[in-house]
Amino acid sequence: MATLVDIHTHILPAVDDGAANTEIALQMANAFVAAGTSALFATPHGYSPVYHVHTDVIRTETKRFNQALKVAQIPLTVRPGMEIRYHADVITHLLASDALCLGAVADDKIRYALIELPTREWPKSLPDTIYKLNLRNITSIIAHPERNLAAQKNDRIVDAALTEGALLQVTAASVMGNFGTACERTAHRLLAAGKVHFVASDAHDSTLRTPGLRSALDHIRTAWKLTAAADRCIAMAEHIWDETTHDN
Ligand SMILES: [Fe+2]
Repeated sequence: MATLVDIHTHILPAVDDGAANTEIALQMANAFVAAGTSALFATPHGYSPVYHVHTDVIRTETKRFNQALKVAQIPLTVRPGMEIRYHADVITHLLASDALCLGAVADDKIRYALIELPTREWPKSLPDTIYKLNLRNITSIIAHPERNLAAQKNDRIVDAALTEGALLQVTAASVMGNFGTACERTAHRLLAAGKVHFVASDAHDSTLRTPGLRSALDHIRTAWKLTAAADRCIAMAEHIWDETTHDN
């Protein structure tokens, strides 16, 4: 299997509820490499009720962690990003670069914003926000819609986001059933309907949301027999990696 790109991880040490320190982050890095990933975006929480990691911290810590990977001779490359909690000023913050797009690319390029929704509600203003961001060359990637309680019961709200140009990221642990049946069923339904663009680990540590995508992709292929959906997710993540290639 070719190398896998992970667009949603909490690998940066000691910035949010991800890796608690550099030692754990390096353990996660080794687990990523062992599971076939050599490239990933570090996406600490931004604007969440509990965590807001400043963009400068994300940039600095990404550089520092890439150095640590080099010293430890772990063949993994990390680019900066942010998991942006949906909020009233999300457009303003993205346009002012107070919220980081994947790869922290310049604002004259097509950019990708990883957006996290509340757990229960699906914001009514979401389609309009997606549309407005698209007008400014920012594509919204909705993080783990299968974990949203409203989306588990209502495909139409998800379809409305897709119609406005959003992309969807399902979490590997949901595919594997680690978040319960409702998440697993919703992940399956969305993948089977061809509505999913990425599978990502959302890795925080080495227990629940673990590093690596290979087992989830294998499960999608063999148990769910959705080979084309798995291949599409791999290709889309590679595509975004290529599009965000620049000197950080
Ligand atoms: Fe996350």
